Amino acid sequence: MAVDLLLGLQWGDEGKGKIVDVLTKNYYIIARFQGGPNAGHTLVFNGMKHVLHTIPSGIFHEDVKNLVGNGVVIDPVIFKKELDKLTDQNVDYRKTLLISRKAHLILPTHRLLDAASEASKGKAKIGSTLKGIGPTYMDKTGRNGIRVGDLELENWKAKYRQLANKHQAMIDFYNIELEYDLDELEIEFFKAVETLKSLEFIDSEEYLHQAQRDQKSVLAEGAQGSLLDIDFGTYPFVTSSNTTAAGACTGLGVAPNSIKDVFGIFKAYTTRVGSGPFPTELFDENGETMSRVGHEFGATTGRARRCGWLDLVALRYACQVNGVTQLMMMKADVLSGFKTLKVCTAYNYKGKEIKHLPYNIESESVSPVYTDFKGWEEDLTSMDSAKTLPESLINYIEFLEDELQIPIKIVSVGPDRKQTIFR
Ligand code: GDP
Ligand code: IMO
Ligand code: MG
Repeated sequence: MAVDLLLGLQWGDEGKGKIVDVLTKNYYIIARFQGGPNAGHTLVFNGMKHVLHTIPSGIFHEDVKNLVGNGVVIDPVIFKKELDKLTDQNVDYRKTLLISRKAHLILPTHRLLDAASEASKGKAKIGSTLKGIGPTYMDKTGRNGIRVGDLELENWKAKYRQLANKHQAMIDFYNIELEYDLDELEIEFFKAVETLKSLEFIDSEEYLHQAQRDQKSVLAEGAQGSLLDIDFGTYPFVTSSNTTAAGACTGLGVAPNSIKDVFGIFKAYTTRVGSGPFPTELFDENGETMSRVGHEFGATTGRARRCGWLDLVALRYACQVNGVTQLMMMKADVLSGFKTLKVCTAYNYKGKEIKHLPYNIESESVSPVYTDFKGWEEDLTSMDSAKTLPESLINYIEFLEDELQIPIKIVSVGPDRKQTIFR
């Protein structure tokens, strides 16, 4: 059986969690392939809102396996908090949650290193979520990391101590003021590690190969968005993993030719949290309206998200890099009431109009070329059929489909599971 892939096409927070939850009933396994607790995936159903950081978004479905893949980095402390919340909600995750032995661990000192690195950058900071993501992936590629499977070995604490000591020397090297009590952080960490050890660790690539042989369907869940990809994003203002389709192959051990559908999720406008270029960013009333109506505040850090018009240049690029086969447009409801909508269809770049994403998209280099669209007044939030969507919205959708040559199969009109229109 093939593997389907679901990933964000912008700068994250497109609504991946919601759509994974909506699609989970069609799958046997939901598998997260990269990122870590920098992610915040929101699910809303039965009047309740749930935010997941490391745990796959299929966890609320009883009979579905949820795998944390080898490409993910796990902070045991945050993971334990997520588990505690699930317990409070009577979610029996013990039978369904599986952890790859090859996933790497975020140590307390990784978080401190993240903070030290950001503080040392001053105005040039990335705007990291400060969850220790960068330093943990650095230790992974530097071949120093500690993996989940190491927790089953006798000597893992010696390995931990060696690495934590090295980190402390590195923190000192930054020579910035950072207040912390490592003893206290370690007590919390080691306690959380015991909780993690009570879960089922597996050789996940073998598990997924067997599942495929047994005709069991798999949905790979991405975190962040394509423009935050370490290779293809707006470097250096990116995260430290491959958020694009290739990341699912390395982050789960599935072969490229076993991937069938690639679901690309995007908002009907654009948001970004943290630093970095954002050609269609708005600093006016329109941007404020998007922020207010869309409740654009980070699910992990609570920071305000920057808002702007839809950027088709960037979206086209993301569709190409990922091989997207189906699109899902989120938060269409937020645009109700705008008289005119703008879509960036090209960039002015060095005196020329271009349609591809150039190396540098800082505002000194590119300025967006917009096409205007008539807005719609109707409240979409209680609509449940594609037939009832306003004509101006259908025009907007059909224009995007035409430009991207990919069908938009889902239009989301509210945060709830039920506020999902299939086309
Ligand atoms: P993710 O990281 O891609 O899973 O997205 P987040 O959960 O960080 O951010 C998406 C936010 O938009 C969450 O607060 C969702 O509840 C909300 N949301 C998702 N889809 C819709 C939608 O169609 N309309 C509205 N108004 N909110 C939505
Ligand atoms: P989900 O999965 C939005 C951003 C941070 C920062 C940059 C690097 O919820 O879509 P990091 O902590 O990885 O070192 O931060 O990436 N970022 C996200 N923005 N959604 C996310 O995840 C993000 N994860 C990281 O704001 O700009
Ligand atoms: Mg999010």
